[in-house]
Amino acid sequence: MCGITGYIGYRDAYPIIINGLQRLEYRGYDSAGIVLYDGNDIVLSKTKGKVSDLLEKAAKEISPKGNLGIGHTRWATHGVPNDVNSHPHTSQSGNLVIVHNGIIENYDTLKKELINRGYSFKSDTDTEVLINLIEEVQKENDVKLGKAVQIALNQVIGAYAIAVFDKNKPDEIVVARLGSPIAIGIGKDKKEFFVASDASPFIEYTKEAIYLEDEEMAIIRVGKKVKIRKIHDDSLVDASVQKLQMNLEQIEKGGYEHFMLKEIYEQPRAITDTYRGRLLREDGIIKMMGVEDNMKKFLNADRIIIVACGTSWHAGLVAEYIFEDLARIPVEVEYASEFRYRNPVITENDIIIAISQSGETADTLAAIKLAKSRGAFVFGVCNVVGSSIARETHAGAYTHAGPEIGVASTKAFTTQITVLSLIALRLARAKGTVSSSDYRYYLQELELIPEKVKMALTSDDHIKKISEIYKDATNFLYLGRGYNFPVALEGALKLKEISYIHAEGYPAAEMKHGPIALIDENMPIVVIATSKGHYEKVVSNIQEIKSRSGQIIAVVTEGDVQVKEIADHVIEIPETNEGFTPLLTTIPLQLLSYHIAVMRNCNVDQPRNLAKSVTVE
Ligand code: AGP
Ligand code: GLU
Repeated sequence: MCGITGYIGYRDAYPIIINGLQRLEYRGYDSAGIVLYDGNDIVLSKTKGKVSDLLEKAAKEISPKGNLGIGHTRWATHGVPNDVNSHPHTSQSGNLVIVHNGIIENYDTLKKELINRGYSFKSDTDTEVLINLIEEVQKENDVKLGKAVQIALNQVIGAYAIAVFDKNKPDEIVVARLGSPIAIGIGKDKKEFFVASDASPFIEYTKEAIYLEDEEMAIIRVGKKVKIRKIHDDSLVDASVQKLQMNLEQIEKGGYEHFMLKEIYEQPRAITDTYRGRLLREDGIIKMMGVEDNMKKFLNADRIIIVACGTSWHAGLVAEYIFEDLARIPVEVEYASEFRYRNPVITENDIIIAISQSGETADTLAAIKLAKSRGAFVFGVCNVVGSSIARETHAGAYTHAGPEIGVASTKAFTTQITVLSLIALRLARAKGTVSSSDYRYYLQELELIPEKVKMALTSDDHIKKISEIYKDATNFLYLGRGYNFPVALEGALKLKEISYIHAEGYPAAEMKHGPIALIDENMPIVVIATSKGHYEKVVSNIQEIKSRSGQIIAVVTEGDVQVKEIADHVIEIPETNEGFTPLLTTIPLQLLSYHIAVMRNCNVDQPRNLAKSVTVE
């Protein structure tokens, strides 16, 4: 969820904000914008595209004057990337201006109320709803901006990092945070202040910063101490000023050595953001407009054909198990590159689900066009709003993983499974193939997954030690059954693509049909042996391997005893229902491949021969 930056002080704000936006480019974005208070009024320029496009446009539209301003790089979640939907957004009166990272879940309810009160909207974004809500609160309560922001945010459900100012009171910036980061850079003698998503935009101006915590807000005024307050009860917070130690590169990676590791650790947040506003556990419902609007098509479909490539194809395989198990809808999973050329039988009673992180994969796009030409309904699951695949499909549901910079997909995979699980559960409910008590259990368990991912991540050091032992292996086998067979494939792909070690994934039961001939004391075998899903069968597979001197690295459910006695290494994950285990079992496999690749001095974020998005055949 991209980047915000802002400045208030004695210098010209324009170059500082533009430089800040350039520093935030690494986070991935689709649009950029800037607004300044030029001493008399606000001047604003924004555009779909790159910061360089903004520079060109701003040079024609605004004079770079003023000591107060805010800027934004957008990663669209509501409203396709275009100039109008870009930030900053102004309120209806034109007095207030905002930049926002995050998602306002209840924006549609708030928007309807504001329309009833006479507001009109220029953009399709949730952010424009927020700035008009703040304006309405300010007018209704006759309060200053800071208080208006606080009252408004107490009506908001969702995630935000915002910076707001009022052109009629251009001596302050109001910032607030819930779920998306905000750092406040403190200039010498408080003569100037910086705000940004991380310290990269202001690191050369100050090494002193306050990092807001969730549910905190601040009113920033030159010469004044920054007062941090709790949004919900206005209580003062004793904020600690941090001395920045990180260099620019370390800041961009959030302190992690590589983007891939940062993105592995972002998965709890990414999964939360993906089900945010869709999984309404307390109401016992799942709300996904793309599914609701096409419910009859889904319920009357003869089958669902999933087309994708690489990791997205593995997510599709997990979905096959989930859809058939819970919603009892026949599913076929196809490599898009094969599907598009083999003259498949497709009818208008088929539903195609196209899965793609980038939304630009050529083979997947071609498969969609083929299916559409034969009358099928196509539903997209993408991570990039407004991408080619998102625009080509009839409907869809976005993952909200945020930009994935590392070439090896990690958070894209788990958020794809999250979206597909929500769809399968929603259809199962509509078809009555899941009881209401089971449905409630699944909703509750899915909501617990981010915390369980965090617990799975605590095995990182243990996994690093295992990686040290096997980093020089020349071949790996990955085995799993049921829901975890696709995870075995995904684990093998991760290792292959970033460490360049040959690895293969197999259904565990397939061993005796050939692969077991490969087993010897030099062969590490990763086995997913969680308590749910043919556990005893997997245990016997492990025993077969052990009897041939294979080295076993087993992913088990915490508390496992039986596998611990036979495996060479075990990595524990928390208990969950079988259908959600892929969201947890994939975590140790991501970390194993990451550490082995680092120990082999591979280029983890940009592996050789690979591109983040394969836009050519
Ligand atoms: C996975 O780590 C790779 N980056 C690759 O297999 C990727 O999943 C595949 O190219 C599909 O990309 P997409 O999800 O953007 O369509
Ligand atoms: N939800 C807002 C939008 O779609 C902000 C997205 C972001 O984090 O950049 O415009």
